[in-house]
Amino acid sequence: MSGTVDPSPRERRSPARWLITGAGGQLGRSLLGVGPQLGIEAFGRSHAQLDVLDAGAIARALDEFAPDVVLNCAALTKVDECEQRTAEAMRVNGEGPGVLARACAGRAVLIHISTEYVLPGDTNQPLDEEAKPAPCSAYGRSKLAGEESVRAAGGEHLIVRTQWLFGPGPNFVRTVLAAADRGEVLNVVEDQLGRPTWSGALARALVEAAAAGARGTLHLACEGVASWYDLAWAAVSEGTQRGLNPWVKVRPVATSEVPRPAKRPTYAVLGLGRARQLGIELVHWRDALSAYLAAEAEGRDA
Ligand SMILES: NC(=O)c1ccc[n+]([C@@H]2O[C@H](COP(=O)([O-])OP(=O)(O)OC[C@H]3O[C@@H](n4cnc5c(N)ncnc54)[C@H](OP(=O)(O)O)[C@@H]3O)[C@@H](O)[C@H]2O)c1
Repeated sequence: MSGTVDPSPRERRSPARWLITGAGGQLGRSLLGVGPQLGIEAFGRSHAQLDVLDAGAIARALDEFAPDVVLNCAALTKVDECEQRTAEAMRVNGEGPGVLARACAGRAVLIHISTEYVLPGDTNQPLDEEAKPAPCSAYGRSKLAGEESVRAAGGEHLIVRTQWLFGPGPNFVRTVLAAADRGEVLNVVEDQLGRPTWSGALARALVEAAAAGARGTLHLACEGVASWYDLAWAAVSEGTQRGLNPWVKVRPVATSEVPRPAKRPTYAVLGLGRARQLGIELVHWRDALSAYLAAEAEGRDA
């Protein structure tokens, strides 16, 4: 069993006070952006304000904010850099969540964000929360260690695996649009599949999951499956409607044509059955992309 949920039909109300670590990143900014609309009070702490490896600083933040939920968005997320900085990745992604989980035990529910990179990436079918982890990169191994350290701490927790995030901050969609704007020909891999996910949609779903009392492990990602090429093409198509040069060329290539330091999963599609049972469904990634670009155009974080 991947987790539990309170099945009572009572009205779902999310715990009110959230403390976000790693709040300067995409997901943290999105949750801070939508929090007021969703009726939660969210307090963000960036890396500079709170290091997840610093148990004393975490204890002081818990005293100061008395949160019901701590959302851990802190991570080293550059997959290729993790191959070189393995010890640091293991500290931040592997040990940091454990430091946080031990501090939260008995005081707040910890929602820890993990990734499809902990799973085998070559199965040709969506994988649910029960699938046996088998990471194929240093990033994936460090994130799996993070999940294990949260479980070992024994406090109330929810580990949410998500994938292919785009939101406020550097991300694939922004990189593609910037390259297209410079008139570059874009070579984008078409043989890796996943679920592109807007951090704004994920932030809303996290609040729903907390309101449902979900615990254990839960996959949350946008509906639909795409290749990086599909996502790039969709981003450029949307971009041209917003004034981007319409003669942009996006060329599909194989992973073998663009070697990278870290091995990538080829089919890394999260199974969303448990989320659906909880009544949580994120929008399709194409609608999420439109909503994200609209938010960016208006200077909103989510
Ligand atoms: N991005 C994706 O495609 C993706 C996909 C699946 C899962 N996830 C997971 O989702 C979570 C959020 O991702 P994101 O895209 O929002 O990441 P992000 O934009 O890279 O933000 C991560 C934040 O963590 C901070 N950080 C790094 N080390 C820290 C430390 N020791 N203590 C406190 N903060 C620290 C970083 O600050 P500095 O930059 O200042 O160091 C950064 O602001 C992460 O757990 C990630 O592994 C991401």
